[in-house]
Amino acid sequence: MNDVARAINEARQWSRLMEWSELGAIPGNGVNRPCLCVLDRRARRMLIAWATEIGATVSVDEAANLWLRREGTEQAAAPVLTGSHMDTQPAGGRFDGAYGVMAGLEVMTALHDVGHVTRRPIEVVAWTNEEGSRFAPGCTGSMSWAGVHPSDSWDEVRDHNGIAYGAALAEQLAAEADLPRRPLGSRPHAYIEAHIEQGPLLEAQGIDIGVVTGIQGSRWFTVTIEGASAHAGTAPLLLRQDAMQDFVRAVTALNTLTHDPDDVLRFTVGRVSVSPNSSNSVAERVVFSIDLRHPDRDVLLARGDAVPGTVKAAMASCRATVVETFHAMPATFDPEIVEVVAQAAIAQGASQVRLASGAFHDAQFVVPIAPTGMIFVPSHKGISHNPAEYTSSSQLAIGTQVLARALISLADAQPTLPPA
Ligand code: GLV
Ligand code: MN
Ligand code: MN
Repeated sequence: MNDVARAINEARQWSRLMEWSELGAIPGNGVNRPCLCVLDRRARRMLIAWATEIGATVSVDEAANLWLRREGTEQAAAPVLTGSHMDTQPAGGRFDGAYGVMAGLEVMTALHDVGHVTRRPIEVVAWTNEEGSRFAPGCTGSMSWAGVHPSDSWDEVRDHNGIAYGAALAEQLAAEADLPRRPLGSRPHAYIEAHIEQGPLLEAQGIDIGVVTGIQGSRWFTVTIEGASAHAGTAPLLLRQDAMQDFVRAVTALNTLTHDPDDVLRFTVGRVSVSPNSSNSVAERVVFSIDLRHPDRDVLLARGDAVPGTVKAAMASCRATVVETFHAMPATFDPEIVEVVAQAAIAQGASQVRLASGAFHDAQFVVPIAPTGMIFVPSHKGISHNPAEYTSSSQLAIGTQVLARALISLADAQPTLPPA
């Protein structure tokens, strides 16, 4: 195991991540690589080539999750799974998601380099559409795999250009028709996802590794406010059905609903679209998103359930409809996996702290299927979903070394025999 951790190649991992970040590069070192687009396909082809070079087998499932597999000495044993996602936010960074997939590949490559064959197979997955920024909601790949929703559930969801998720998914699968198709759903022995922290805690405390204990819950809503278009110069206020003014009222009411002096409850309106979007027309329609998060299930349920009533009560002249598009209850990671990660950090000589994730991750949907955990590495100033997202090459390498140790300890452990 020490030899594999030593074989983690910091320079290779960094240069491959930088190669990926050229696909969709935006000013300020950022990346805009939406899921299921041409750039995503090119990034996936690079991953497939790197995996094939080391003899890993590659397959894809009907949700376009991409799977790499390195056989173990016991091929029939349940694999130890790692991975993350390769899509980014529109103004995203180089590390959110990409790091977890690359760390998995780097562990596989180091195993190959030193000739270590684990007892259980090792698999790396690149989940489809974790971000949910091109097609809302996020985590459609992991939700499909976990059986939370069928993979055609979002077929009619459209991106900014009117392209449907179902059509983009079909195009993706057609582009990878040369890959073996694997069925959705499987039973890994365990899942560990490596990710940047996306918060300021590790850097502020000078700590190498976040041993993640769980993920807070999230709920997403889409609100549509219907008014009527009118002339900006002539329509008297009393006769207007101004969707923009009612939007402002709705957000003000939601700010009151979600006010939390302790700053634990998080409420975001990140997307707004206005029609006809003309300076001298009263808005006839506003569609906006709500992202609500809290680590306590009861709080998330109570505040989230109050969203539709709060929005409707805020309408002065328009009609509002509220649709919930995403629902991920708070998740607690398996204590044994948390311990495996903690021990791996100790063996690596890395400092560690236990913490919960404020961001959601595909790992949340693996929790009901397999013992799950996550490893965080520091994020400079806690910046994420921003081109300035940064983690140094050496910080990433420490995370990958800890991941290698954790995966190998799970993959090589002998099964406990039933009592005689
Ligand atoms: C994941 O990208 C999240 O929004 O938490
Ligand atoms: Mn992510
Ligand atoms: Mn993200």
